[in-house]
Amino acid sequence: MSDTVLRRRALLQGAAGAVAGIAGVAGAASCGGPAQRPAAAPTHQPGVLTPPPDSSAFAAFDVVAADRTGLATLMDRLAVRAAAPHAADLTITLAVGAGLFDARFGLAGQRPAGLQAMPAFPNDVLAEQWSHGDLLVQVCAPQQDAARAVLADLTQVAGTAAKVRWQLDGFRPENGVDAEGRPTTRNLFGFREGAGNPDPRDQAEMDRLVWVGGDDGGPSWTRGGTYQVVRLVRFAGVWNTEPVTRQEAVIGRRKNDGAPLGHSRETEPFDYQADPDGRLIPRDAHIRLANPRVPSTEASRILRRGYSYRLGTDAAGQADEGLIFVCFQRDIERGFATVQRRMAGQPLDRYVLTFGGGYYFVPPDPASFAALLRA
Ligand code: HEM
Repeated sequence: MSDTVLRRRALLQGAAGAVAGIAGVAGAASCGGPAQRPAAAPTHQPGVLTPPPDSSAFAAFDVVAADRTGLATLMDRLAVRAAAPHAADLTITLAVGAGLFDARFGLAGQRPAGLQAMPAFPNDVLAEQWSHGDLLVQVCAPQQDAARAVLADLTQVAGTAAKVRWQLDGFRPENGVDAEGRPTTRNLFGFREGAGNPDPRDQAEMDRLVWVGGDDGGPSWTRGGTYQVVRLVRFAGVWNTEPVTRQEAVIGRRKNDGAPLGHSRETEPFDYQADPDGRLIPRDAHIRLANPRVPSTEASRILRRGYSYRLGTDAAGQADEGLIFVCFQRDIERGFATVQRRMAGQPLDRYVLTFGGGYYFVPPDPASFAALLRA
């Protein structure tokens, strides 16, 4: 077995080993009282376009409710909690996984058109206990404690109807905005992230790339929702032994200020026409494959909104840390999956291991999704 395979196995074992440390909050007491429906139904859920605060808590749940009524009660309760007043800058985003639309709850005819279980891509080693789930809860807040407390409350509200499948806290180092006001952070590889995103303040762009529209097919309740892809990506420590010039060639941007290689500013508009041979930005650089910046790849652009994670060290003393990659798009095939396939074999793959995550759909409004279950 090659060194690379061994290293990747060891990485995965470390990631899986962390399960025991962070799982185990399921099965909390059920909260009583009739569920109330929130008064105002938002068109889109928060936590997609809203500027990401510093901290987050993600959890995927398996629904174990016995029947559709049990599921409806669960969704009602979560929807009420999500709509209840909470601190400024705190967002709760509820999403559903493909598993919810299997034979258990009679929802097969209501499955969002593009929702399936996330497949393993060539460089992935997906651990079941870190992947998929019937529901995804994303809580974002300025403080980690607040995000965690809200997630704990939601877990308790779920009671015995849902069990935590995987759970992970996130943070955004150097969280801020770039010169054009787009959210940025510095990930644990030391690079700024966010500049290549479409602008979440541009409503027309968001309608084009992020929100499901009337002409997208699928059940009508999905309009105004969006597909959420989560990838749990562990970073390999060997990255830190590489010279900065090599790291920059792998990414395609400067490490200190995020400027595209050969350019002067992070937010400078550029394309690859003047650099067909990759003398400035290598042809296999991450940003070049992720977004070739030509009209024919425009429809595959995605809105990234990720967080870093840190889970201490594994049994071998290696840091278990990386990226909770999150992106939103109107169509997973056209968005994330197309980008991911285009990046196959990129040099960045040597330094990362995707061990979990999933595909989810964010309904336009949790309350109306809950109401659908009673129909
Ligand atoms: C595996 C760990 C990853 C790391 C360390 C990483 C890092 C980065 C960095 C530093 C940038 C440049 C700054 C920016 O535009 O935000 C970037 C851009 C980008 N990344 Fe990633 N990324 C990772 C995974 C992914 C994945 C899984 C996807 C999607 C399949 C993706 C898609 C993109 C896109 C679309 C851009 C913007 C490129 C542009 O518009 O020029 N990245 N990434």
